[in-house]
Amino acid sequence: MAILAIDQGTSGTKAIVVDDDGIVAVAERALRPRYLPGGGVEQDPQELLRSVLESGREAAQSAGRPLSAVALANQGETVLAWDPDSGTPLTTAVSWQDRRAESVCAELAEHAEEIRERTALQLDPYFSAPKMAWLRRNLTREGVVTTTDTWIVHQLTGEFVTDTSTASRSLLLGIDEVAWDERLIELFGLTGERLPRLVASDEIVGTTTAFGAEIPVAGLIVDQQAALLAEGCFDRGTAKCTYGTGAFLLVNLGDRAARFDNGLTTSVAWTLRGRTSYCADGQVYTAASAVRWMCDLGLIETAADLDVVAADSSDGVLCAPSFAGLAAPWWRPDAGAFLSGMTLSTGRPQIVRAVLEGISAQVAELAALSDEELGAPLVRLRVDGGLTRSRVLMQSQADLLQTPIDVYGSEHATALGAAAAARLALDPGLDVVDAPLPWTPARTFTPQWTADESGRFRAEWRAAVDADLTRRS
Ligand code: G3P
Repeated sequence: MAILAIDQGTSGTKAIVVDDDGIVAVAERALRPRYLPGGGVEQDPQELLRSVLESGREAAQSAGRPLSAVALANQGETVLAWDPDSGTPLTTAVSWQDRRAESVCAELAEHAEEIRERTALQLDPYFSAPKMAWLRRNLTREGVVTTTDTWIVHQLTGEFVTDTSTASRSLLLGIDEVAWDERLIELFGLTGERLPRLVASDEIVGTTTAFGAEIPVAGLIVDQQAALLAEGCFDRGTAKCTYGTGAFLLVNLGDRAARFDNGLTTSVAWTLRGRTSYCADGQVYTAASAVRWMCDLGLIETAADLDVVAADSSDGVLCAPSFAGLAAPWWRPDAGAFLSGMTLSTGRPQIVRAVLEGISAQVAELAALSDEELGAPLVRLRVDGGLTRSRVLMQSQADLLQTPIDVYGSEHATALGAAAAARLALDPGLDVVDAPLPWTPARTFTPQWTADESGRFRAEWRAAVDADLTRRS
């Protein structure tokens, strides 16, 4: 069966057509969020929708074969208000990277523990509910306020739905019950809001003619979890990291929604075949965003220059490229990015390397938290996303994790994960573990640093972060 799978991300939308043997067509549209003073990050909803329709139609056309379904992975926590009758957006899309809902979280600080217990998430503006509350206070009280997936699927099918993995990133979902939680809705001041029906990722939610002949829409899933599925992380303790706009480390937890004391969060990995699986989830809010910042500054022209420009050593320059705050274990939305240890001999090569090491150091911190909680060290990490093209970044990741890194065999892990979920929707006899296409690593990176070198770097890097956070407190 040929499935059109669309990955609607922050920096772009990718559409693929995939059949049982692999990808037969690809089309992409780039997107650029608007960065505002004060931590605002916005996207134009119509541009998001246009990118879905255009890339989907182009991929469908170039595949030149009948499609069995369209699947959609979404960027997770980006919200907008829209008119449920006409489908017209009433506001801009407030991006997951937007920090302006920090004030909403500050007001709810006394309830942070209760919120964590109910959701297994941290009270942070990254998640959807604080942004929904902020949008209601500052932009409009009209229409419905939802994540972007609900709006896009409504445009395609007329339905009003979201899948459980996306809902689990909202701070409104009771994580054990996998149901909207009235107490949380009340805490965020969202009582009376119409919330979408929760669906499983292997559910057919409606049909669309947006890409040609009428086909089912199935395989709704949040993008990070889609990559976890594509990469076959089914066993407890198996993990992947996607290096996209941000970098996200997800570790399969099986069928129990653990609460972590060290700052790691838990989300729904997916609901498939009537069963919900969970994953531990660690966030680096700016990865490709930090690379884009270096491009805007003229340090490099494009991401392809990273490995050409990066020095062999950062010569003591340390960077936390936390341009949109820090998540686990710090949970400091007010954190900014910094470079430290520069001398008069510091140039572009050292800065580029320090930024890449800053990304891999954050991922290493997240992996350490997961090791601590799962009681078993990560033995291998599967990785995907555009930045895995940087050998410098991947080598640094292997060095800092002290484990081998397997780069996923395709650049389209997220879309392939959504396609796997759609395959399950269309074929009731298919086992979950057989849904993703088989893959072999495109490349494997093994650690070149010794454990001592890695430990020393990580301790220095962590001390620099702690010092910077103390200065801000
Ligand atoms: O939580 C946000 C994240 O899932 C967005 O992913 O691919 O747009 O960086 P991406």
